[in-house]
Amino acid sequence: MLLPGTKIDASLMQSDIIAFNIVMDRFDEYCYLEIGSYKGGSLLGHLLNPKCKAAYSIDIRTNSSKNNTNNPDTLDNNTTEDMLWRLEDAGADISKLKCHDGTIHDISEGFVEKTPNICLIDGEHTNKAAEEDFNFCYSLCKDGVIMFHDKDHVKAGIEAALRKMDAPYTSYDLSTLVRAIEVGGKDRLK
Ligand SMILES: C[S@@+](CC[C@H](N)C(=O)[O-])C[C@H]1O[C@@H](n2cnc3c(N)ncnc32)[C@H](O)[C@@H]1O
Repeated sequence: MLLPGTKIDASLMQSDIIAFNIVMDRFDEYCYLEIGSYKGGSLLGHLLNPKCKAAYSIDIRTNSSKNNTNNPDTLDNNTTEDMLWRLEDAGADISKLKCHDGTIHDISEGFVEKTPNICLIDGEHTNKAAEEDFNFCYSLCKDGVIMFHDKDHVKAGIEAALRKMDAPYTSYDLSTLVRAIEVGGKDRLK
């Protein structure tokens, strides 16, 4: 959907945005990290929210993206420059955003300077990538909420990651497409 009043075409439903807002509201302040940003739809709310002190975007920026089928998703004009232009045009504070054009596998040590408390995984929609992206987020975020978009596409990857968790967690389906895993035991989403 085109986010109202912006030039950002997000691969989100209204119920996903409500789910993201509910999660943000449970924090007094937080840092945000997402894997898979495309035009910035899932970043916008955080960049507009003063409670969000820093945001990180990790996106491979290719024109097609693998999934669990033989038909990759096509992505047009998938560049960080294009995303930043659209976000700025929508009034977002892009000064708190740091972007990595690549994956979790080629990110430089120290790129994520502030501990994220809210993460969103919406990059490569394969089970393997979902599991690896979760492990990456969990290595940084031991107290917070790690969400998946398109949860049913990567269900096996999510379950594989959760089976290997070494600490208690709670899992919530926040919308048709969003699953949230709360780690750290604060029960913010209860
Ligand atoms: C579904 S789009 C993200 C949509 C965005 N979250 C929104 O709200 O509109 C998926 C994005 O993930 C990126 N991507 C694909 N594979 C990736 C990977 N292995 N690591 C990081 N990003 C990846 C693609 O370049 C694409 O921009």
